[in-house]
Amino acid sequence: MRRPNHRVAGWKPFDGLECGRRTDNNCFLSLASRFRGWSTKKCYYLFAVFIVGCLLLHLSHTALQMNFRVDFLPTTSPTGGPFGSTYTIRVNTFRRNDMLKRFLGHFARCPNVQAIQVIWSDQGYDPPSLMDWAIPLSTQELSKVAFEVQPTDSLNNRFRALLPVPTPAVLSLDDDLVIPCETLDFAYSIWQAAPQSLVGFTPRLVTWDGETASGVVAGKKVTELEAGEGAGPGPGAAGSYRYLSSFKHVWWHGRYNVILTKCCFLHRDFLSLYFSSLTPEVLQYIDDRRNCEDIAMQFVVANHTRGAPPVWVQARFTDYGQKSGISQGEDHARERGACVGRLVKEFGSLCLTTTSLKAIDARRSWIW
Ligand SMILES: *[C@@H]1O[C@H](CO)[C@@H](O)[C@H](O)[C@H]1NC(C)=O
Repeated sequence: MRRPNHRVAGWKPFDGLECGRRTDNNCFLSLASRFRGWSTKKCYYLFAVFIVGCLLLHLSHTALQMNFRVDFLPTTSPTGGPFGSTYTIRVNTFRRNDMLKRFLGHFARCPNVQAIQVIWSDQGYDPPSLMDWAIPLSTQELSKVAFEVQPTDSLNNRFRALLPVPTPAVLSLDDDLVIPCETLDFAYSIWQAAPQSLVGFTPRLVTWDGETASGVVAGKKVTELEAGEGAGPGPGAAGSYRYLSSFKHVWWHGRYNVILTKCCFLHRDFLSLYFSSLTPEVLQYIDDRRNCEDIAMQFVVANHTRGAPPVWVQARFTDYGQKSGISQGEDHARERGACVGRLVKEFGSLCLTTTSLKAIDARRSWIW
């Protein structure tokens, strides 16, 4: 049947040919050929726009479907989960009162922080009077803060609780960190699911390096430990333990076996466990080097829990000490590698559990 030969602006009668200069009976092309003078390129362009349009329509449809009202029940049980809803901060500080001031001003406002114990190891100065500091906090917030005056300036004091710890959960922190209260609560909820683990924000990787007999050598291949392997090298093997001090190694390998105690949740029972597990010699070793108390705690916990993995909570926070602290430099990494060797001697093996677990707040992750 012949089509009537009428003309509409921009249209021409269908003749089964011609999309640009091409002739074929492809349905899409022939349809597009109804547009006068459109090239093949334009036909594909139109098709792409069509597909993207469909996708957007689908997404907006999904979004509309998702947009029904959800009445979330309270996210914590009436008693706040197995360990209650509050936790205790223990903060290590040393002659950085400006940092400490900022620290207290922030964390004392967090509603679920029940107490802040400032570990005062400074033998040269008495702790300040909070009233003199005039931190803008309410009386109730100020009353959370207590100074724990230590008789020595040992690094192990971080875990030496002289004041009673009022909650099962301890949040161990350095004074140069500022972490949003919400982020703390999220990490605390994860700790409630894994109270036998160190749950924190700063993962690190300790490995055995079979290629360096003497210590850290930049650029050398690192022989990684498989998860659960942990036994380290056989007796007499040449090599050394390496502490990979930078986060980039965790990022690259996607694995870690240490959570630093400068920023982690742990059970209060682990504080005394630290002193009952480690020999006076090891405690002295840590004192002498003013280093490695965090790695030692990871050993103590891993050994005590028979290999329960640490948990890394990924979150944004501010670390004011990152540039200036002692945690920089090759020497620091080498010394910590040596610490690992010393601890392996103590525990009989590299009993740390290597894991790739990462906990993320789903409300803050993109797309998935
Ligand atoms: C490691 O754990 C075992 C088993 O609980 C215990 O007997 C041993 O004393 C622990 N080692 C150290 C160094 O704490």
